[in-house]
Amino acid sequence: MKKLALLGAEPMIKEEAPKSLFKWPIITDEDRAAAMDVLENNSFSGTDITEKFQDEFAAWQGRKYALAFTNGTMALTAAMFAIGLGAGDEIICPTKTYWASVSQSLTLGATPVFCNINDMLSMDPDDVERCITPKTKAIMVVHYIGYPCDMDRLCEIADRHGLYLLEDVSHAHGALYKGRKVGTFGHIAAMSMMSGKSFAAGELGMLVTDDVKFYERALAYGHYERNDAAHITESEDLKPYYHIPLGGVKGRANQLCSALARVQLKYYDERSAEIRRAMNYFYDIIDTIPGLTPVRVDESTGCTMGGFYSPMVVYHPEVFEGLSSKRFAEALRAEFGEAFKAWEGGNYCLHTHALFKTFDFLHTGKPSRIAFSDRDAREDDAALRPSEEKYCISVPWFKHFDKEWIELYAEVYRKVADNYKELLEGDSDKEQGGRWHGQENEEVQKKRNEWLGTEKKN
Ligand SMILES: Cc1ncc(COP(=O)(O)O)c(C=O)c1O
Repeated sequence: MKKLALLGAEPMIKEEAPKSLFKWPIITDEDRAAAMDVLENNSFSGTDITEKFQDEFAAWQGRKYALAFTNGTMALTAAMFAIGLGAGDEIICPTKTYWASVSQSLTLGATPVFCNINDMLSMDPDDVERCITPKTKAIMVVHYIGYPCDMDRLCEIADRHGLYLLEDVSHAHGALYKGRKVGTFGHIAAMSMMSGKSFAAGELGMLVTDDVKFYERALAYGHYERNDAAHITESEDLKPYYHIPLGGVKGRANQLCSALARVQLKYYDERSAEIRRAMNYFYDIIDTIPGLTPVRVDESTGCTMGGFYSPMVVYHPEVFEGLSSKRFAEALRAEFGEAFKAWEGGNYCLHTHALFKTFDFLHTGKPSRIAFSDRDAREDDAALRPSEEKYCISVPWFKHFDKEWIELYAEVYRKVADNYKELLEGDSDKEQGGRWHGQENEEVQKKRNEWLGTEKKN
């Protein structure tokens, strides 16, 4: 008799969990009233509500300036423009992230260079060092799925090489690294606040910085109505360019989202504390299942996961005789039925996408990734761990602490893990060996060492 639902046995989850266990964002009459106010006054396109939200967000984030955008993609693009990222510059980014962490750098003529992730799916500082060349201008740190990157190391590396540090905080609003909020380490941080995120406000993006010059450049990039003498007071070089956004884009936030965001911000800390309580309890159970490692921090170090966006466990196929994460996730889905659609992989690794190999966006006759390079950065991709995306599996994102339901959901993972042998037959994606811990290409390493010895130009 088989034990797993995928092979015909009884599924573990037979009833629906209370809706409030997962519902996000939490919408109350206060949100409704704020949204109605925008509707009634037709104030979608102004900036008064947005400016209030910016001030509140800057105070919450602990930075001098906050600038809202239509979405996170636009806020990140403005951050790149603000530091002057341009033709021929290289920007280092982890390969495993959402495309908007770095893809738009191509439109500025820059070259994305991809680095590996570590065992917590987080930007690997050692590998960042490997990626530095005389052309490197910036590091795009991504606090992937809420896990704060090693900011001691990354800040030190950026300082030592004279590089700009940008943070993509789209997955990690409010996360702490050794007691300090992520988003306060980089020269600029930018983030998504779209409806699926921990900080969810419809479709919205935010940029934060302490430097007025970056703030004003970002403003001039995408905010035509504030690109004027009243708002740009410090940047002489921007003065001839008032009234037309320098990026040729309209980045103004929709105030329906800003109004919602103002209310969400008031409750964000308390709601994310509840999420952490729930997720940590769930992960304490997952921790007892060999072969699955929760992606989370040890809170005794002063780090937290913020709102625990899109939680995942690292999957170790070697513990399951090479069983693929795909097959494992399929078995989870059968146990959960409609309750939860477990999926394997997270974001695919960007360097594997043809956009970064061949696409000629700029029409220069060359792949845009290397349009202005004196080298072929695509060759560096050989040093990246192949198929890294196969090694994680999603877990439910609890918004409330509910002991019984959390325990039941965690036991689904144990059931599949305990009975994995049933899944080996018919697994067309079976892995040979475990995660990739191989040596990087020696040639690439040699080149890096030479570059590291050269002086960094900004
Ligand atoms: C890591 C990351 N960066 C940037 C973005 C882009 O944000 P938006 O969707 O708000 O444009 C997202 C997701 O949406 C993301 O997950």
